[in-house]
Amino acid sequence: MTEPTSQPASTVGPLVVHTAEELRRALADAGRVALVPTMGALHEGHRSLMRLARAQADTVVVSIFVNPLQFGPNEDFDRYPRTLDTDTGVCAQEGVDVVFAPTVNTMYPTEQMVTVQAGAMGDRLEGASRPGFFTGVLTVVSKLLHLVGPDLAVFGQKDAQQLAVVRRMVADLNLPVEIVGAPTLRDPDGLATSSRNVYLDADERASALALSRALNAGRDAAADGPEAVRAAAQGVLDEAAKAAPPVELDYLALVDPATFTDVPADFTGEAVLAVAARVGTTRLIDNVPVRLTRS
Ligand code: PAF
Repeated sequence: MTEPTSQPASTVGPLVVHTAEELRRALADAGRVALVPTMGALHEGHRSLMRLARAQADTVVVSIFVNPLQFGPNEDFDRYPRTLDTDTGVCAQEGVDVVFAPTVNTMYPTEQMVTVQAGAMGDRLEGASRPGFFTGVLTVVSKLLHLVGPDLAVFGQKDAQQLAVVRRMVADLNLPVEIVGAPTLRDPDGLATSSRNVYLDADERASALALSRALNAGRDAAADGPEAVRAAAQGVLDEAAKAAPPVELDYLALVDPATFTDVPADFTGEAVLAVAARVGTTRLIDNVPVRLTRS
């Protein structure tokens, strides 16, 4: 930060900047910089990312940008919650130094011809359900990394495939940044925190709890091998498909956390059990790490 202050961050609040030039000026002499990329509508999960960032850097930057490039034509770009004032308050409470909230025109002044593709890793699961999603994510993340130039960037494990493709981009393109994964935060009822949870009414939320129940059932079966993990989770989801409102399963997969390919039936080691489902009009994703000790 150029203008250090002795007052606590919560009363001063972050510097909110909207352009690349303002950002550059805000980050002169910033020391070790951590970036937390977000699309706003900040919740407890984001707070935990900010705390991780705060503990590891001199200057914490939170970017808030609802990235049109990662939304499909029939997705919720228009209705995605935009709550910059509230978000800035959250950032103030978490001691964030700079909020970078660019406009679409700042990020994409002309048609984005050159994009970053995830390759085969981005074609399955989330990538198969949401064509173009990972191209949108990697393109905006690489732009944010170039604009902010952080030493580290923090991403939630809740979006496990996103975290994996971002790690792979950083490795494959030799980007000089450390990627830190933050554990998933859950509400007391088990629902993973997400900006999209606000779309759920009470009945939909009750049905949505089947996702974390299924993942827990799968993880509890880990001692019996990958097939048992899949079957236990699938059993819960089959029941949830009959609930009112129903949980409409998109995918359930037990994958290698680095490549997001399915683990074989004789696999042992660390895997990720990932699920995506629709409840009402809301699409939810969740995952848990699973340690497989026996095939
Ligand atoms: O996880 C998100 O909120 C977004 O995908 C990200 C990483 C901020 C890119 O727009």
